[in-house]
Amino acid sequence: MQNNSDKYILIIWDSMTGGSKAMAQAAAQGVSTDTETPNRVIILHADDVNDTDMLGALGYIFVFPERLAAISGPMKSFFDRNYYPCLGQIEARPYAMMICAGSDGENALRQGMRICQGWRLKPVQKAIIIKTYAQTNEEILAPKTISKGDLQKCYDLGALLTNGLSMGIF
Ligand SMILES: Cc1cc2nc3c(=O)[nH]c(=O)nc-3n(C[C@H](O)[C@H](O)[C@H](O)COP(=O)(O)O)c2cc1C
Repeated sequence: MQNNSDKYILIIWDSMTGGSKAMAQAAAQGVSTDTETPNRVIILHADDVNDTDMLGALGYIFVFPERLAAISGPMKSFFDRNYYPCLGQIEARPYAMMICAGSDGENALRQGMRICQGWRLKPVQKAIIIKTYAQTNEEILAPKTISKGDLQKCYDLGALLTNGLSMGIF
């Protein structure tokens, strides 16, 4: 836990080549536009999140890559560790999901949404899939740059979640 606020949005990310990390950071900036609520955002790598972090949050943004047509390993491990400790205790909280993918992303999204449905979380908008169009081995393993326009979508989603919470919509 990095923050002593009891009214935070928790952004949980995993990334190997930087794309999802940049998306998570953009979403965190969007949440931080909510200046009336200090310490509004906590952003943590999937490996560092425990059930106390989860239970204390008002809402969630999950950001991760698709790998081998699935949720990336550390993100899956986060869900595995925290699913039952949180089950029945976070129902109806709002969430958003953002996937970074080479050319697809749909399977990772389906898996992530299925888990969040099990938790009975409420999606605040359609998930974002951002494609980096890496094809060759070299391109797939290279650091990723997310376009300004795509980062803006992540920022807007963070702003939407915090503003919706502040206004009591979510
Ligand atoms: C081992 C591995 C498997 C991958 N499998 C998929 C895949 O199934 N579908 C897809 O769209 N992209 C796939 N990719 C591409 C990544 O999703 C893409 O490079 C993404 O931008 C990585 O996000 P990151 O920069 O946050 O790590 C794969 C990448 C790696 C390294």
